[in-house]
Amino acid sequence: MSDRVIIFDTTLRDGEQSPGASMNAEEKRRLAGRLEKLGVDVVEAGFPAASEGDFLAVQGVAGRLEKTSVAALARTSKNDIDRAWGAVKDAKKPRIHTFIATSDIHMEYKLRMSRDEVLRRTVDMVKYAKTLCPDVEFSAEDGSRSDRDFLCKVFSAAIAAGATTVNLPDTVGYAIPHEFAEMVRYVMEHTENMHKAVLSVHCHNDLGLATSNTLAAIAAGARQAEVTINGIGERAGNTSLEEVVMAIHTRPNYFPVVTGIQTEQIYPTSRMVRMVTGMMVQPNKAIVGANAFAHESGIHQDGMLKNPMTYEIMRPETVGLSGSDLVLGKHSGRHALRKRLEEMGYQLTDEDVAAVFVKFKDLADRKKHVVDEDLEAIVAEGILRTSEKFRLLHLHVSAGTTVIPCATVEMEIDGVTHRDAEFGNGPIDATFNAITKLAGARCELMRFAVSALTGGTDAQGEVTVRLKENGCVALGKGTDPDIITASAKAYVNGLNRLEYLKANPAVSSADNVAAEN
Ligand code: KIV
Ligand code: ZN
Repeated sequence: MSDRVIIFDTTLRDGEQSPGASMNAEEKRRLAGRLEKLGVDVVEAGFPAASEGDFLAVQGVAGRLEKTSVAALARTSKNDIDRAWGAVKDAKKPRIHTFIATSDIHMEYKLRMSRDEVLRRTVDMVKYAKTLCPDVEFSAEDGSRSDRDFLCKVFSAAIAAGATTVNLPDTVGYAIPHEFAEMVRYVMEHTENMHKAVLSVHCHNDLGLATSNTLAAIAAGARQAEVTINGIGERAGNTSLEEVVMAIHTRPNYFPVVTGIQTEQIYPTSRMVRMVTGMMVQPNKAIVGANAFAHESGIHQDGMLKNPMTYEIMRPETVGLSGSDLVLGKHSGRHALRKRLEEMGYQLTDEDVAAVFVKFKDLADRKKHVVDEDLEAIVAEGILRTSEKFRLLHLHVSAGTTVIPCATVEMEIDGVTHRDAEFGNGPIDATFNAITKLAGARCELMRFAVSALTGGTDAQGEVTVRLKENGCVALGKGTDPDIITASAKAYVNGLNRLEYLKANPAVSSADNVAAEN
């Protein structure tokens, strides 16, 4: 058995299915570049049949990656598989990932198909996918709740039809590590020609066990792990890449396997996912949370000073936490800025560096020390967010104890400048009212959260909003030393994301395909 575990990253597909975490084509393309630098083996870029926007996004990723395989998800229907192939066919290493549910409950209530029909559909569609692409992955959705013998029968048939990877998902996060490992062993023993394919696992975190289940499966012989950065994904999320990789890295005696991940790229990748999706990382999140390497208690600090290994099982540098606080100041030049951006993993064009430089100088005039987090926010807001309908140009707010809060806002909407003013019960309310009026927005503000991007009283404020309209949910993020401006930026970003979702209404990957063929 190979000792190499294939890391299949689905941040751009299952991760994107987190409420509000949708990404546009350019965001996906850039994140995919980062994932390649991180060393993932396969990037699942999206679900092309879901929307024209996702088709184009997957195509963009396929055109960008050199070493990493690019997978596109498809239900077991000709239409989905054609769309998936259309989107990845120009990739250096394309993969079609097709799936159908195999649990009795999904077959009976969702698919309304018998076991025989599911088996036949699997064979037909894997064979069809194989006529297009040599690399075909088949997933048995809700595999962990499927009858084991039926699952093995489906996997055997999928391998005979040409699948090079068969994936066992714990779709609803129901499995328990010991039980899941046993299931992996059973599948390996009872699937015909298992040695001709890679056995993969894909776990969800509903019981907080996704990482444990994935590791148990690897210990039992699975050789592909499907993961997301920061563990983002549907409901409670997917298995987190950083947790699986660092467990393997930190406990080599227990896991005699290797991955191709460059661990020092973990933290910058995590930050970029956070910036692009707007999804916060809980401070106590393993590996990438703000407190993951912080030692507060006196006893711990004393031990750390005597020997860091007393309380630290991994070095922060190993996961890419440089610990360097002071990066650049207002006298730093363009060359130093470019060098730091490159160290952080951003390969920007001259034009992009010039745009970042203008914003950096502006920030350095207002804030003494510009640190990595500040630069990331500039890149996320200025470079990653492209083709936006709404742009905030100017904001003027008057508020205080003796005036009625009022905001004047100037915005570009589809390239045309508009200006208006509104009152509110506070400066942020007034600002949101003015933006709502200008944009003609009809969304509901579900959540508004403010935090500090870094420490210190001159830290930039980081605002996250969650907006909802007609069932679409979008997150918006904004940063600025002034929290009212940060709030305005977050609201405008949320409105742009809603526009993208409205223009690209997604078909859910869970929708029934039985009626389609
Ligand atoms: O959770 C799941 O079952 C999936 C499949 C499409 C692999 O995401
Ligand atoms: Zn999933």
